[in-house]
Amino acid sequence: MIKIDGLFKTYNKGKANQVNALSDFNISVYEGDFVAIMGPSGAGKSTLLHIIGCVEDFDSGDVVIDGKKIDELNDTELSKFRNKTIGTVFQDFALMNDCTVLDNVELPLLFSGVKRKKRMQLCDKALNMVGMSELKRRNVLELSGGQRQRVAIARAIVNSPKIILADEPTGALDSITSKQIMNMLKKINENAVTVIVVTHEREIAEFCKRTIIISDGKTVSNVRA
Ligand SMILES: Nc1ncnc2c1ncn2[C@@H]1O[C@H](COP(=O)(O)OP(=O)(O)O)[C@@H](O)[C@H]1O
Ligand SMILES: [Mg+2]
Repeated sequence: MIKIDGLFKTYNKGKANQVNALSDFNISVYEGDFVAIMGPSGAGKSTLLHIIGCVEDFDSGDVVIDGKKIDELNDTELSKFRNKTIGTVFQDFALMNDCTVLDNVELPLLFSGVKRKKRMQLCDKALNMVGMSELKRRNVLELSGGQRQRVAIARAIVNSPKIILADEPTGALDSITSKQIMNMLKKINENAVTVIVVTHEREIAEFCKRTIIISDGKTVSNVRA
């Protein structure tokens, strides 16, 4: 599903503040996998997720996602591929504030040109999955952190992506809410979606099938749970 070989990513190349965020990094993620990525701050975890999420380019290496070498796609192909294949969840939810729950979940479907009636059906299905149907007309500013993250998950799954990338999705939540969110990602993974979660917390990683540890832009261990 995702195969990365010899990946290098440098920020500020050739300048005094050059950072080698990923150096000869390798990872294989199979279809239906549920992977936790752990490692110290600055290890390159977010950079990796941005590259897999097709929102950041890289210097060299092979990145194959769902059978596509992503550096061979042009901008239009890449954004189409991203919208169809990948859903993303962030620590800070990254919702459109002062909009309703429905507005937020509908957004990826607007990008992919889905008609209104179908949009409403798909939004209802996604909101049902995260238990937020009843609050769909609510402004997201009136929601708790856990509810906001449920909305962000609904938005991430509404296009039926094959891969969900979650960068510290429970980093801003209390432990009970964190467990609810991880159970939700687990349920999504059980529906044959590949899920990758970056986390600092071992209890969160334990929801996943295995853990990969990154340090200084390299894989240091690959632990099967
Ligand atoms: N846009 C950027 N410009 C310059 N350096 C960056 C940028 N993004 C990340 N870095 C650097 O790359 C390294 C890896 O960062 P990151 O992938 O965010 O780590 P993590 O998510 O594991 O904390 C860090 O040293 C960070 O400072
Ligand atoms: Mg990070």
